[in-house]
Amino acid sequence: MSASRKVFVLTGAGISAESGLGTFRDKGGQGIWARFDPMKLATPEAFARDPESVLAFYDLRRRNLLSARPNVAHFALARLESALAERGGSLTLVTQNIDDLHERAGSASVVHMHGELLKARCGRCEAVRPWLDDLSPSDLCSDCGRAGGLRPHVVWFGEMPLAMDLIDRALRKAELFVAIGTSGAVYPAAGFVAEARAYGLRTCEINLEAADNADLFDEQRLGPASATVPAWVEELVGG
Ligand code: APR
Repeated sequence: MSASRKVFVLTGAGISAESGLGTFRDKGGQGIWARFDPMKLATPEAFARDPESVLAFYDLRRRNLLSARPNVAHFALARLESALAERGGSLTLVTQNIDDLHERAGSASVVHMHGELLKARCGRCEAVRPWLDDLSPSDLCSDCGRAGGLRPHVVWFGEMPLAMDLIDRALRKAELFVAIGTSGAVYPAAGFVAEARAYGLRTCEINLEAADNADLFDEQRLGPASATVPAWVEELVGG
């Protein structure tokens, strides 16, 4: 693996777990979707039916995020990005996470395929703006001036993820595909490893426990991201 210079990393909720942000589906049944119904809180239909409850759910997650801090796994990936660039290589960092902990750890280029919690999007004019406060149906869009359309800039179930063309192009160009802290339960992200194999990439899973699609990976490193990710980065670019 250490010869790889064009690296594609996909991260999931597991990389932010040790920063105090909950995962969605953990074996202990304490995941976010065990406590909250995604069909009532994370679909466009739910937002149309009951915007107050949907917005309150994301207000809670936004406040948690604003008091969270990146952990050593986030910092290790920021280090990997600059170390590969120094060697004429590149890191494509695609995250399913809607938090900004990669950026706060210093990652310069992060592709948020499921959107960003600290931004709001207007359902009327599609404008996207930074938004750090709670969001209510009466808030006005600063672009079109209308109320009732603002929603978190996140991808809900049943909606198309973002930047899929960019992601496919980067997968085709990479040499190594690594999935970190994701259960492999949600498509299209769960399908990236099969695509990577089809394009001839080496594949590695770094996770607390084996993901649903673990058998598709050439290599597996199990343990908390705070231990496994810095060790892997050191192996790849250290010394
Ligand atoms: N270190 C490494 N991995 C961890 C840690 C940790 N400290 N804690 C948990 N994990 C692993 C779990 O073993 C699990 O495989 O992280 C994974 C989290 O899986 P999910 O909760 O399913 O999160 P994710 O795969 O990111 O979910 C994908 O589903 O709900 C939607 O849009 C949401 O982006 C999300 C998508």
